[in-house]
Parts: sequence; C-alpha cells; structure tokens
Amino acid sequence: MSTAMSSRFLSRALPRHVPRPALPAAASHRCLVGLQIRFNSSSSAPSTSSEPQTTVNAIPTPVAPTPLPQKAPRNLQAFSMANKVCLVTGAARGLGNEFCKAFVESGCTDLAIVDLKEEEAQAAAEELVKQSCLDSNMDPSDYRIIGIGCDVSSEISVQQAFRRAMDTYGRIDSVVASAGIVENYSAFDYPFDRIKRLYDINVHGAFFTAREAARHMIPMGGGSVVLVASMSANIVNIPQPQTPYNAAKAAVKHMAASLAVEWAKKGVRVNCLSPGYMLTKLTRTILAHDTELKKTWESLTPMGRMGEPEDLDGAIVFLASDASRFMTGSEIRVDGGYCII
Ligand SMILES: NC(=O)c1ccc[n+]([C@@H]2O[C@H](COP(=O)([O-])OP(=O)(O)OC[C@H]3O[C@@H](n4cnc5c(N)ncnc54)[C@H](O)[C@@H]3O)[C@@H](O)[C@H]2O)c1
Repeated sequence: MSTAMSSRFLSRALPRHVPRPALPAAASHRCLVGLQIRFNSSSSAPSTSSEPQTTVNAIPTPVAPTPLPQKAPRNLQAFSMANKVCLVTGAARGLGNEFCKAFVESGCTDLAIVDLKEEEAQAAAEELVKQSCLDSNMDPSDYRIIGIGCDVSSEISVQQAFRRAMDTYGRIDSVVASAGIVENYSAFDYPFDRIKRLYDINVHGAFFTAREAARHMIPMGGGSVVLVASMSANIVNIPQPQTPYNAAKAAVKHMAASLAVEWAKKGVRVNCLSPGYMLTKLTRTILAHDTELKKTWESLTPMGRMGEPEDLDGAIVFLASDASRFMTGSEIRVDGGYCII
C-alpha cells in the first residue's frame, strides 16, 4: 500500500505526457519512512520525556522528483533563419510582411522591412517586434528589425536602402523582392504610363533589388535571393485581363534563372516563388469590385480555395535558408494546383 501511494505521489508531480520513471530507491524509502512515522505516532502510547519526540504533525517535506531533462526533438538546422540578416521589399503588408513573420518564426532577429513609405515600413517593424515578443522569452532588445522607405522602381532608392541595411547589420544574407502591383485593363484600354509604371516596379524593381543584393552578398561569401513572381508567369489568368502583369511575372521568372547562372559560382543563389491566388490587399482590391470573381478563381483552383499568406511560409523559408543550398534558378509554385489543370 505504501509503495502504491508513493508512486501516486510521484506521478502527480510529473506532467502527464512524460513517461514515468522507475521509482528512485531513495525517494521510495523516504516516502515509506514518512508514512511509518505518522502510523507510529498516532497508534503508540504517550511518550516519556526520555523517548524521541514524534508528533502527529511530523510530516516530512516531500522530496521533489529529480527533474527530467527538457525534451528537445531534433529540427533540421538547415531551415533555421537564426543569425541570418534578411531584407524584404514590399514588406509593410501582404505577402512580404508574411515572409518577414515566417523568418522571425524561424529564428531571424535581424531584418529590414522595405516599403514605399518609410513610416509604414517602420510601423510594420515595430508591430513585428511586438508580436515576436508575445508568448516568448525574447525582449524587444533581442531584435534589430528596422523599417526603410524605398521606391523599388528607382535604382538610387534601392541602393540607398541596401546601404542603410549594410550600415545597420554589416552584411545581408537573404533578400526577397516582393514589392509588386497588379492592374486589370484590357490591352486596348491600358494607358501606356500605367504599363510603364507596372514594369518599373515589377520587373526593374526586382532587378535592382537582386543586383544590389548580389553586390553586397558576393564580397561576404554569398547569399540567397528570392524573386516573387506568380503563377501568372506560367499561365494566363481568366477572366480578368492583365497582359502586362502576366508578361512582367514571366520576365521575373526568367530573370531569376538568368541571374542564377551569372552568380552561381559567386555563391549567390537566385530562385523565384510563384504564388497562386492569395488573399491579400492586392487581390482584395480586385475582388471588391467583383464579388463573383472569387468564386470563379476558387472553382479554377483544384484545392477549391484561395491561399492564405501563411501558406507560403514553408516555401519562403526553404528558399531563403540553407535548406535549399543546392537550388538556384528554380521556381516553386504554391498555387493550390492551379497550374496543373
Ligand atoms: N496576392 C496574390 O494573389 C499574389 C499572387 C501572385 C503573386 N503575387 C505577387 O506577390 C507580391 C506581393 O503581393 P501582395 O499580394 O503582398 O500585394 P500587396 O499589395 O498586399 O503588397 C505589396 C506591397 O508592395 C509595396 N509596394 C508597391 N509598390 C512599391 C514600390 N514601388 N516600392 C516599394 N514597395 C512597393 C506596397 O506598398 C505593399 O506594401 C507582388 O509581387 C505580387 O505580384 C501576389
């Protein structure tokens, strides 16, 4: 009976999911002794002054079980973004912002959020630090997450953004070019100045970002560049007309392959991530004018839904981290199967 009670005492002291250890001999003995003292004191005759004093209150302090070492299942370290300095364009919101969250979730503490308006980039940086400290033992001072204002369609602006990041961190390991826009005009109606602006942001912006990244990465031994293209690089979306966007994304995809070949032996890998229809401000703006369109897009997607930004977390961490170290010039499509039918 005593052994059973002492086992129960130990089992209550351990978390449920931890396998119970064999009762340590010393602990078992101490519990048994405690029970024996209580039994003797309540059943024996009153003691004389020469006898050792044992009272009914003499319950020994329970001996805490030896703590088990914290269980730490293995993780593939190549996926870790710890000690990597990252820079993401178009990161104040949307997919770019989600990429930043994914990097921090994977251990990144040094990150530059680049977007058109400096105050929005800085607000996003502050918010990310705040969120990253919730439910964690990290403090704001553990992070160096900064917001930088930059128009990716301007080469000088991109150069200045990278200079500021280099001044802060001294190196840059992983860069994502996510800044981009979409517009829906039929070919005959598309004003040329808007077509030009779209190419300036989506194509030249990606090029300036990749080139500046490589300029800073090569002297430090290399790094990873991810250009955000689209499934539109591979298929023609319907029913909305968006020829310049589709052509721009096809250009970005082939730009990644071409730059990958130029820099392969210099340690800079360049890949592209091509999302399908994702729920962000970019698509919500389009859907706001056409409620039926979402149903059409979903019906054309084998998985029957639009993607959430979080659906890209695994792919972006894979491409930006050492997990993809033998991969360059490739495309990862994350589109719910859109392109396969
Ligand atoms: N959302 C989708 O369904 C989808 C699908 C495929 C590809 N993409 C691509 O993913 C990327 C991100 O799209 P999103 O859905 O997050 O869009 P979004 O509109 O939600 O966010 C884009 C971000 O880029 C910034 N930006 C725009 N122009 C800029 C410029 N000139 N300089 C710097 N920053 C600029 C915006 O301020 C914004 O923060 C784009 O390249 C887009 O083409 C999106």
